[in-house]
Parts: sequence; C-alpha cells; structure tokens
Amino acid sequence: MSPLDDLPIRDDLRGMKPYGAPQVPLPVALNVNENTHPVPQEVADDILDSIAKSLHDINRYPDREFTALREGFADYLGHGLTRDQIWAANGSNEVLQHVLQAFAGPGRSAFGFSPTYSMYPLLTRGTGATWVAGERGHDYTITPESAAEQVAEAAPDVVFLCSPNNPTGTPLPLNVVEAVYDATDGIVIVDEAYWEFAPRDERSALTLLPDRERLVVSRTMSKAFAFAGARVGYLAAAPDVIDALRLVRLPYHLSALTQAAASAALRHAPIMMRAVGEIVAQRDRISATVEALGYTAYESWTNFVLFGDVDDPAGTWQELYDHGVLIRDIGIPHSLRVTAGTEEETTAFLDALASVGSAS
Ligand SMILES: Cc1ncc(COP(=O)(O)O)c(C=O)c1O
Repeated sequence: MSPLDDLPIRDDLRGMKPYGAPQVPLPVALNVNENTHPVPQEVADDILDSIAKSLHDINRYPDREFTALREGFADYLGHGLTRDQIWAANGSNEVLQHVLQAFAGPGRSAFGFSPTYSMYPLLTRGTGATWVAGERGHDYTITPESAAEQVAEAAPDVVFLCSPNNPTGTPLPLNVVEAVYDATDGIVIVDEAYWEFAPRDERSALTLLPDRERLVVSRTMSKAFAFAGARVGYLAAAPDVIDALRLVRLPYHLSALTQAAASAALRHAPIMMRAVGEIVAQRDRISATVEALGYTAYESWTNFVLFGDVDDPAGTWQELYDHGVLIRDIGIPHSLRVTAGTEEETTAFLDALASVGSAS
C-alpha cells in the first residue's frame, strides 16, 4: 500500500498519477515543447523595468481584474475582441482549470479526442468530474461527422478540442469545431496553445466566436512567447463565460509581478515572436530528416514532431538520453515526440538519432 492510500484522500483521487514529465538537466532538453530561444535582451530589460515599478506598490493587492493585461491580450488577438471577452491565469493549465471548475465538477463530465494533452483528464478529475475519451481516425485526424457523433453520444458538459493537437501535432479543421459545437449544449474549449506555429494563412477558432456563447478559445504565452517560466495563459469567450470564471478564481490570482511582466512582454509581441519562424523551420527539418532516416513524421502545426515506426521507443529514448538529448516517450506505441529547438539543439538531436537505433 502506498502512503497516499493511508491518508483520508478523496476516493476519486486514489490511484491517480501526477503530471510527470521528467525534469533532468541534460544539455539538450526537447521534451516539454518549450520555446528554447531565450527572451531577447531588449525585451528582458523592459520587463525588468516594469517589474521594478510594480514593486513600489507590492504592499497592496494587485488589480484583481488585471485590466491592463486583458486589454493587452485583446489587442494582441485582434478579431475585434475587447477586454470583457478575455480571461487570464497562471498558465493556460489554470485557465482550463477555471473553465472546468465553473462548468464541470462532481456528477459532470469532460470529453476529448485521445491521444490528446495529458493534463485534460487530470484537470477534469481534479474538479471531481469524469473524463471521457473519444477516438481519432487515420493519422490522428478527426472528421466533423465522427466528432459530432461521438460528442452527441457522450453528451459531456465540457469538450476539449486541441488545435493543433498535443502530442500528435495534428491540425484541427474549423468545420470540426462547428460540428462539435452544434452537437452539444456544453462548453467547447478550443485549446490553441501552439497556434502561432500554424501556417500564417490559416483561420483561428477566434473567428468562430461571434454568436457562439459556449465557445472558448484558449492560448498561452508559454510557447511562441518563450514565457513558460512566467506562467501566463489566457482565453477569449463571451463576457458571460468570463463572469462565470470570476466565481471560481482565487481573489488576486495573478500577482502584480506576473501582470507587469506579461503586459511588458505583450508590448513587444513582434520581437518576442521573432523565433517562431526559425522554430517552424527546425520543425520542418526534423520531419524531413526523420523521414529520411526511415521513421514516419506526422503532420505538425506545432513546435514539435511526433514520429512513428520506432522499433523500441523506450530503448531509443534511453540512447538519446545517453547522448545528452532529452525527448518524450508519451506512451503511444512505436512513437516518440521531440520539440523543435534552436538550430544547434535540433542538429544535436538529429545527429544523435542518426547514430542510434533504427526505424522498424
Ligand atoms: C495543448 C496544451 N495546452 C495547454 C498547455 C499548458 O500550457 P501552460 O500552462 O504553460 O500555459 C500545454 C503545455 O504544454 C499544452 O500542450
């Protein structure tokens, strides 16, 4: 019996495992889809100035409504959005948790197409709700017909649509979002954590927000903005949905330091995202090179690549680890996932992969 079982822990948490991507200090860490490019110095200086200014009032609670930050996100997202349609929290994980706390909870359910982001089931169960896993088709794609049918049958209170999907990188056509929205009376969350890495001319689910009061589009500063350590995520939705989230957030959940740092970073959005094009180029290089090595690269609109036809994923993972390269074995048979790093990091990964194991 594990010590946890000795505690009077909630029955529905018994046997659960915490989120557990390994944190090991290897020279080349490409396992959690971070942006491995540091924040440019000119932006870091301005962020530091803003944090220093916020320290003058640090004896006071911060703006509970994080008004300036919400305005910053509305400007950044465009599409005519205003600050009353924006919410933010400590990482999009907390944003998603707020949505689940308000719209899922005991006796309710949330649904997602498996394999998808591993935190969705954990966050769902954390609120006391049940997780329902739907199925994807060929190469992890989803058709509007199948999606609508599965969602109608499961009748969940919250649906997660990861666009593009983690851990597979798969794009999600907007007609799937429309079909799912029409197939449920619940909240539909389109998680666009990796949206900035998608082709420039593609339409975001933000364009579907008008007249869809149960649709939520979430984003994060952790990926394209290279701000994972600051923990800032946000979403856009109808003002009434935002009001519902106010019922479950902790008062003053976004610290004055976080608000100052995120607002400053947003003022420099074009510079902050200079690395996106470079990362996309490295992602495409990974896809082409792993294919040349005999693996299968799944289509990716993200900053990572899932590749299949790996004989022994655990063995290949270990061999790369021994070469100082950390990637992710996400438990999909014969597959591994790698984040696109800088050119040097990507080269280190590709060289290591070429020198170890072989495709099946
Ligand atoms: C699809 C997806 N959504 C949300 C997140 C959470 O990001 P954060 O909490 O850092 O904003 C991640 C992180 O990897 C992700 O892959």
